[in-house]
Amino acid sequence: MTMQLNEDFEFRGPDYSTTQTSSDLPRHRWYLIKEGFSPKIVDAAIDSIELGSKDLILDPFCGSGTVPLTAALRGIATLGIEVNPFLAFVSNTKLKSCDLGRLNEGAKQTIDRLCSGKKKHSLLEGYSTFSRSKELQKWLFNTDVLRAFTTGWYAVQNAHPSSRRFLRLALTKAAMDNCNARADGKCLRYRKGWKKQDFGSKDFTQCFRDHIQTIIGDIESLPLKKIGHVANSDSRSALANTKITFRLCITSPPYLNSFDYSDVYRPELFLSQFVSDNDQLRQIRLRTVRSHVQTRWSPPKHNDFGEIYRRAASDLLSVSEDLWDKRIPLMVQAYFEDMKKILKLLHQKAKPDAQAWIVVSTSAYGGVEIPVDLILAQIAESVGWFLYDIGVIRHLRHSGHHWSRLPDTERPSAKLRESVVVLGKRKKK
Ligand SMILES: C[S@@+](CC[C@H](N)C(=O)[O-])C[C@H]1O[C@@H](n2cnc3c(N)ncnc32)[C@H](O)[C@@H]1O
Repeated sequence: MTMQLNEDFEFRGPDYSTTQTSSDLPRHRWYLIKEGFSPKIVDAAIDSIELGSKDLILDPFCGSGTVPLTAALRGIATLGIEVNPFLAFVSNTKLKSCDLGRLNEGAKQTIDRLCSGKKKHSLLEGYSTFSRSKELQKWLFNTDVLRAFTTGWYAVQNAHPSSRRFLRLALTKAAMDNCNARADGKCLRYRKGWKKQDFGSKDFTQCFRDHIQTIIGDIESLPLKKIGHVANSDSRSALANTKITFRLCITSPPYLNSFDYSDVYRPELFLSQFVSDNDQLRQIRLRTVRSHVQTRWSPPKHNDFGEIYRRAASDLLSVSEDLWDKRIPLMVQAYFEDMKKILKLLHQKAKPDAQAWIVVSTSAYGGVEIPVDLILAQIAESVGWFLYDIGVIRHLRHSGHHWSRLPDTERPSAKLRESVVVLGKRKKK
C-alpha cells in the first residue's frame, strides 16, 4: 500500500482552496465564508471525469454552497448537505431564481420602510452581547443597526414569498457588514476602531441597497442551468437515509482544528431567527462533526483507523500535559470515527465509476502533526475505496487564517498543508 503525497499536483495554490477569487463571482459573492473553498477546485474535479446527463454531484459538507452552485451553473444535478441552518439557507438561496419584477418591488418597499424613520425594536436588544448595555464594554451591534435590520425583516413579510429569501439574505449581509465584530477564523474579532466607526441605520440601508442590487443583477445575468437543493441535516444520518447515488462527491469536511463553525455564525443564526436561545445553538453544535472541544459530544467508541493514526494518537498522548485542552486526543479520535462513518456511507452511495475528492488540512497539537490526509486515505481504503491521489494544494505559512485557528503556542512548531484526497470506487486503470 503506497501512501505518497503528490507535491506536483496539477491544481496547486491558494486559488484552489480559498474564496479569495470568489468575491467577484456572480451568485457566489452573495455570501462568502472564510472556510469556503474555490469554485476552481470544483471545476477541476468535474473536468477530470466524464459526467453523464443523469449524474449527480454531492457535497455532504456544503457550507456556503460552492459545490452545488458550481454544479448548477454548469447544468449538473446536485445535492448539498449542511448542518448549519443559516449556511443551508445561504446555499439554497444561491441555487434559486425568482421573478425579478417582484423582487425589485420587494426591494423598493423594504428600502422605503427603512428610510421612513420609524424603527422597530429588536428582540435581541439586551440579549447577551448583541446590543449595548451598561455592563458591557463590547457589543456586537449598535441599537440603531439592530432596529434597522428588524424593520427590514418585518417589511419583507409583505414581499412576494418567492422574493423573501433574497431580501433576507441581503438584510443579514448588511447587518454583518455593520456588526462591530467580524468572523476571523476561530472567533469573532472586534474591528479596529469600531466605536469610532459608530455604525448606524444609514450605513445599514446603504449596504442593503448595494447587496440587493448585486443579487438582482446576478439573477438577471447568470441564470441557473439546473435547480439544485441543499438539505439542512447532519450528513452522518442524512447520507444513511437518502436514496440518491452520486457520480462525483467533492467536499471539504470541517478541518480537525478545534474550530466550531456554528459558534462563529452565532450572530447570523440569531438574526435570521434560526435559533432564539443558547440551548438551540447547542443542539446545532452537537450535530456537527466532532472537530472541536467546546461541546460535550458523546465519546468515541472505535480507534481502528490504521497505522498512521495509531502513531499520531500515541505521539499525542505522550505530550498530553502540553495540550491546551485535555479532550484533544479524544476529539482527534472522535473526528476520525465520524469521518470513517462518512467515508463508508459515501462508498455505499457511490456509483460504480464514482470518484470522491476530499479537501482537508493537516493539523498539529502540542507540536505533534496529525496527517489528516494520510489517515483519511488509509481509512478510505479500509472501507473499500481505491486511493487515486493525495494532491498537495498548498503548504500553509505561519500567518494566514488557517494558522490563526491554532492556539498561539502551537504555531512555531506546526507545519500544515492542505491537500485533496482523490478516491475512486473502482481500481484505477
Ligand atoms: C470547511 S466547511 C465547507 C465549506 C464549503 N466547501 C464552502 O465552500 O463554503 C465545512 C462545513 O461542514 C459543516 N458541517 C459540520 N458538521 C456537519 C455535519 N455533521 N453534517 C453536515 N455538515 C456539517 C459545517 O457547518 C461547515 O459549513
